[in-house]
Amino acid sequence: MRRKLFFLLVFLCPLTQLKAQYNNLWIPDTLSGTNFNLTIKDTFAQIVNSGQQTITGGINGKVWGPTLFFKKGDVVHMNVQNKLNDSTTIHWHGMHLPAVMDGGPHQVIPPNTIWQPYWTVTNNAATYWYHPHLHEMTEEQITKGIGGLIIVRDSIESALPLPRSYGVDDIPLVLTDRDFTTSNQFSMVPYGDSMLTNMTLRAQTTVPAQVVRFRILNGAIERSYNLGFSDSRSFYVITSDGGLLNAPVAKTKYLLHAGERVEILVNCSGQNGTTVDLKAYNSLLGNFIAGGENFPNGPFANALGKIDFNILHLNIGAPTSNAITSIPSTLTTNTLLNVANANITRHLTISDSTGLPNVLGPNAFVLNHKLFNINYNDYEVPLNNTEIWEITSSSAFGHPFHIHDVEFNIISVNGVAPDATQAGWKDVVFIPGKTGNTSSVVKFIAKFEDYADALHPFMFHCHISLHEDEGMMGQFVVTNPNSVNTLEKIDIPVTIYPNPANSHLFVKFNNPNQSAYYIRIIDVLGRTIMMLPQPDLSNGIDVKQLKNGIYHILITENQSKQTISQTFEVE
Ligand code: C2O
Ligand code: CU
Ligand code: CU
Repeated sequence: MRRKLFFLLVFLCPLTQLKAQYNNLWIPDTLSGTNFNLTIKDTFAQIVNSGQQTITGGINGKVWGPTLFFKKGDVVHMNVQNKLNDSTTIHWHGMHLPAVMDGGPHQVIPPNTIWQPYWTVTNNAATYWYHPHLHEMTEEQITKGIGGLIIVRDSIESALPLPRSYGVDDIPLVLTDRDFTTSNQFSMVPYGDSMLTNMTLRAQTTVPAQVVRFRILNGAIERSYNLGFSDSRSFYVITSDGGLLNAPVAKTKYLLHAGERVEILVNCSGQNGTTVDLKAYNSLLGNFIAGGENFPNGPFANALGKIDFNILHLNIGAPTSNAITSIPSTLTTNTLLNVANANITRHLTISDSTGLPNVLGPNAFVLNHKLFNINYNDYEVPLNNTEIWEITSSSAFGHPFHIHDVEFNIISVNGVAPDATQAGWKDVVFIPGKTGNTSSVVKFIAKFEDYADALHPFMFHCHISLHEDEGMMGQFVVTNPNSVNTLEKIDIPVTIYPNPANSHLFVKFNNPNQSAYYIRIIDVLGRTIMMLPQPDLSNGIDVKQLKNGIYHILITENQSKQTISQTFEVE
């Protein structure tokens, strides 16, 4: 009887009402401190309300991953374990760190391998993220839901009267969209039919009636989101990708492209009991901005193209006891790079691949007239260079261009200086499509002041994963003109002890001028078990995570980059 009544109710419900069934916004767990354990695995999650679970990739959980809290100045140690059936990489998007720790396509983590990068956090307080970056697999692994947010705190931001209670008045929002198969599985398409906010379909949340901060990441494969509120209220942009703006900037719309982050303040004071929607006003986008096209069919057809749709339904509830109730008038003082100090202007191009050999499809896009080649460095950047990168695009389509290693300042987009929301630190810049026959030109300036390493490049690419995987990527190395590299064979006397080891293995270079550039631990079957870039060996290598048995340790010396090997036992 009850069952019958239920069906009756379902069928009598008008469709609009069914649509209005919201799900509570999921807030990712947090990790903080200086040691972070991240285990990436194949798993599944109940994303669609009923029916089958969706096969996903998750870090420490069922989908996506924990939000990592870093403090500027701390040395953070990552213990990344790949429990996927495939190789992967984890890139710390926006973090300034050595290329060998960066997690780009060169730092491949095989299945069942532990990767332990670490670095000193020098980034400003802002919102960053981490995600897979394995060449030609990025779209697939991001589609599975692998990734996570990074929130950096520093003394400047901490001293400001800003909302800072994670999940209460400081709410992370990871925006993406997916297409589900009839059995509720993610399909690998650039544009989904369903909006996912923190991997939640039709998300709603309750926010207190006070100033609320949203930290918003565009984690989509391709789509841009033209953010705004259903009552057209103003909100205040307080950050660009890499730090606070000088002052909050009032906006009613803000266009966020793939890979970009923005933090906004919304004043909900006195609105207890009301509701408002955060939406994507993508009907307003031009045809050549991702999400502004309206393909009736074909691989890019999707239900969200060129329409306005909900991102998050907000129920405004009671204020908290320590409520922030006003928008600060100033935030920080950014000292931007001076164009007069540039050592060089590099000229990059974006174009359609038409006419290029070996291109995956007729619609691929290319950087510098060629597809990505992992063995080719586009540029050697001398250490301490301040550089202007000028990107000329003859592509009709707009592309979010991202560079690793540095945060930059935009100089101009088609000759026009950036507006106040873009006049800070950035690591993604949108390169608009050409106008008529006129190419667009975007210029930014960056300083490459440390982490010289001739062996490991940093990447630059379009952050639309589909384009990146198709080869819209290049790389550069930062080189130290003063470092001399000896090619002659040298002796690298090393003592490893205790052997057998049961908790920590110590590696001592008998020559005090020598140190480790890279250590790999390989099992007897030749499988890489641990990858330790530029390891700090003062406390030894923690081998407690290794099974008992015999291992090879491959030690690459820092200056000579020569590798020696020894054998040890774990018991
Ligand atoms: Cu978020 Cu190279 O990317
Ligand atoms: Cu990046
Ligand atoms: Cu692109």
